[in-house]
Amino acid sequence: MKNFQVAIDGPAGSGKSTISKLIAKELKFQYLDTGAMYRAITYQALALKINLEDDTAYQFIEKLKLEYKNDKMYLNGKDVSLEIRKPNVTNNVSTVAKNKSVRIKMKDFQQKIASNGQVILDGRDIGSNVLPNANLKVFLTATIECRANRRFLENQAAGIKSSLKELLEEIALRDHTDATRKYAPLKKADDAVTIDTTELSINEVCAEIIKLIHERMF
Ligand code: CDP
Repeated sequence: MKNFQVAIDGPAGSGKSTISKLIAKELKFQYLDTGAMYRAITYQALALKINLEDDTAYQFIEKLKLEYKNDKMYLNGKDVSLEIRKPNVTNNVSTVAKNKSVRIKMKDFQQKIASNGQVILDGRDIGSNVLPNANLKVFLTATIECRANRRFLENQAAGIKSSLKELLEEIALRDHTDATRKYAPLKKADDAVTIDTTELSINEVCAEIIKLIHERMF
């Protein structure tokens, strides 16, 4: 099987994981949600009560068993997919993701997973840092109002109460922290294709990306 790497980056709520999961299913690619990995580390860091700003406090990652399979995140064998979406993790993940030692370990891990077969990774620095030679790089955007509204509807569907105003603030703060950090910030790679998803349906975005994959694969 020919190796093929797809990198999907973009700010919070731009649709990366929804779109990536659907494309992976349709094309039988392996999917890795790199945001879920940063969230799992945040979950563990909070449990251990370390100082999240202290780059030297993350040695625990060496012994951590992180696995992403069937769209679920496992930490030391336990499925933490639901826990890592909770507000406490969401509100701290960008602080954890700023640390250089965390990013170095995640990059190494993600590159190993992506080195074989046909893969799709979504995150913030996949095209610009983790997979600089990816066959296709996509940068998804949407207005912040649209992104907050999507999160609001997602929460509603999952039975989680949330406020649109608070979601707007949380997303704006996280985007700012992600885009201004020193190491591997959220950034569009020079050779990435930008897709503004504000006015597009999920199916339309998937169709556009699948078309690009086919153009580059065959
Ligand atoms: O799904 P959502 O857009 O809320 O975020 P996510 O993809 O789960 O990512 C959560 C956080 O992890 C981001 O806000 C970043 O701080 C961090 N992250 C990162 O720094 N680099 C990545 N490649 C992926 C996520």
